[in-house]
Amino acid sequence: MAPPPKKLHIKTFGCQMNSYDSERMAEALGPSGYALTSDMAEADLVILNTCHIREKAAEKVYSELGRVRAVKARRSSLGLDTKIAVAGCVAQAEGAAIVERARVVDLVVGPQSYHRLPELIAEAEGGRRGIVATEFPAEDKFAHLPERPVNRTRTSAFLTVQEGCDKFCTFCVVPYTRGAEFSRPVAAILAEALRLAGAGSRELTLLGQNVNAYHGLGPDGAPWSLAKLIKRLAQVPDIERLRYTTSHPRDMDDDLIQLHADEPKLMPYLHLPFQAGSDRILAAMNRKHTVRDYAELIGRIRKARPDIALSTDIIVGFPGETDADFEATLELVRATRFAQAFSFKYSARPGTPAADMAGQVPDAVARMRLLTLQALIDSHARAFVQGTIGRKLPVLFERKGRKPGQIAGRSPYHQPVHGDGPERLIGQIVEVDIVAGGPNSLTGVIKSGFAWREPRQAAG
Ligand code: SAH
Ligand code: SF4
Ligand code: F3S
Repeated sequence: MAPPPKKLHIKTFGCQMNSYDSERMAEALGPSGYALTSDMAEADLVILNTCHIREKAAEKVYSELGRVRAVKARRSSLGLDTKIAVAGCVAQAEGAAIVERARVVDLVVGPQSYHRLPELIAEAEGGRRGIVATEFPAEDKFAHLPERPVNRTRTSAFLTVQEGCDKFCTFCVVPYTRGAEFSRPVAAILAEALRLAGAGSRELTLLGQNVNAYHGLGPDGAPWSLAKLIKRLAQVPDIERLRYTTSHPRDMDDDLIQLHADEPKLMPYLHLPFQAGSDRILAAMNRKHTVRDYAELIGRIRKARPDIALSTDIIVGFPGETDADFEATLELVRATRFAQAFSFKYSARPGTPAADMAGQVPDAVARMRLLTLQALIDSHARAFVQGTIGRKLPVLFERKGRKPGQIAGRSPYHQPVHGDGPERLIGQIVEVDIVAGGPNSLTGVIKSGFAWREPRQAAG
């Protein structure tokens, strides 16, 4: 008789790439007998998939390990064993230091070693403690991960097409935690897209730390750009919507901008971080673009797709940032008017050049700047929401809503939308009258309840 399935609980921190990786880890451990549980208390194996981007994010793993330790102790008193693994960017950055600081950890595994998980977990189950796997193997982990099973429907799915970063912004840990830039070959991405479509996905978000620097090997033996990849993916039957994130201003080429005008499946939403509105600070950040470059780029993008919803990332309190530099950041925000923006207080990260720069900004100053910036961003975000109220928008419904009888999905502009409607509309794009909206979600009325576009037969 087969042994009873073991339970796996994964807690994910950080960016979408970590969410994608968590799914791949769960899938990789399926053949080892692990099934996912949302309840940590019944897990035989707990994986914390961690983020190192800011100090607060990185410290979360240690408070979370405290919780896991308590669960382990409780289970142990019932005669049950619990293995604990730390994965993700803290695992890569801190390696063996994690096992030294938290003896309860059985395994530390970096993002480039996930294909080795079955073997590493087997070792941990065999009683080996304090395993650390953080080397950057020369092999392509994606080529060694099992093919994605088609047993779970994700109407909107992530698909990592590019990993790592060679840009070395002076504040950022990603080049160290994720390693050098790497693009997956087109054929592998296409195969995964077909499997996801076959399993019910209607929207794909292509992921990469620098996704628009994509240059994977095409079937013709030449490197393909992101624009070319998206054009190809738009031909996959049943894939109705495509998105990509995160982009770097330097890599926004003409073809990609033009695609926003020409490809109806490419959604009118773009996340394009600019980080700071002063050229002096941008240079110190090693961002490799000026304020003017960014503003011109936005102009070209809006010309190609006038209704595009723009989103960005901004850092305040970078070393040396003066009141005038900060005012320039506000000015760029005012000039651009983002539909959405994520703003952060600069956090000095060990090992990054900016951590040792002169002119570290006092926390109280950075905090005030962040509040000022966020108030401005919120006013623009509210205005964007107001602009969609009264419009009829095609919404891709993805899941049941919070209240009974409700379903929820997203507008082309990536806004969450909910409305009363039958569950059979999940997985379909439906025309919705937007009647109200707040900071987090729009309310829609589904007029006729029939699909805007009937899904075709699933691809084989
Ligand atoms: N690859 C993406 C960003 C990855 S990190 C890009 O190049 O834009 C996500 C965001 O976190 C960054 O855009 C930046 O705004 C923020 N961030 C990164 N390092 C940070 C640090 N040390 N302190 C504060 N914010 C940081
Ligand atoms: Fe970090 Fe800069 Fe690379 Fe983005 S481009 S991941 S901010 S180093
Ligand atoms: Fe965090 Fe790593 Fe993503 S540091 S933001 S989880 S790439």
